[in-house]
Amino acid sequence: MSPEEYVGYENLIRFIEDRQLQLLEGDIIEIGAYMGGGTVKLARFAKKYQKRVFAVDTFDPEVDRTVGRGGVTAGEVYRAFLEGPSMFEIYEKAIAGLDNVVTLRVDSRRLAFPREQKFFFGFIDGCHQRSYVENDFAVVWTQLVSGGAVGFHDYHFDDWPEVTPAVDGIVAEYTREIAETVEIKGKGDVSTLLLVKR
Ligand SMILES: C[S@@+](CC[C@H](N)C(=O)[O-])C[C@H]1O[C@@H](n2cnc3c(N)ncnc32)[C@H](O)[C@@H]1O
Repeated sequence: MSPEEYVGYENLIRFIEDRQLQLLEGDIIEIGAYMGGGTVKLARFAKKYQKRVFAVDTFDPEVDRTVGRGGVTAGEVYRAFLEGPSMFEIYEKAIAGLDNVVTLRVDSRRLAFPREQKFFFGFIDGCHQRSYVENDFAVVWTQLVSGGAVGFHDYHFDDWPEVTPAVDGIVAEYTREIAETVEIKGKGDVSTLLLVKR
């Protein structure tokens, strides 16, 4: 099957381009790559500016034990769109030929980057539990350059009820380091909240 993406990455790329974030130092990080449909879009864009995309995912639908509203589990949602080949096989096929993708097949809690690794844009769409949203934010924010932005998918989306309070808590805690917050609509009207770093 062809790798879909469920965010509307064009809107994210438009946000980056409107603000010329790609001219800042660093690369892009995506936490939650799934089938790679969005990774490909980010990587094609980043390649034009000699930038890389770090794509982080366990690529294992069984790992994410999040229970959404109505009792559905994240694993069930991920599996629903997979038929035949594994998530990782679909992802690998999607990014084939893109030499600026760095794939990190790990649990995002285990992520650590050297100080020199900077990002100008981060996108968080991995595990939707509060502790993971907070972890993923901390990983990205530490490496994010001034003027760069990090986005949280599923903000104000009822299916994953822990995301919005997690993000609101982050915004309250880091308010002095945040220059601006911007909410943009994606596919199916699911929002991404972007935080621009001061
Ligand atoms: C909602 S999907 C991402 C969808 C993708 N952004 C898109 O639009 O195509 C969430 C992804 O996060 C991954 N994930 C869940 N928990 C994770 C964790 N602890 N560490 C890394 N990846 C994780 C899942 O394997 C899944 O592929």
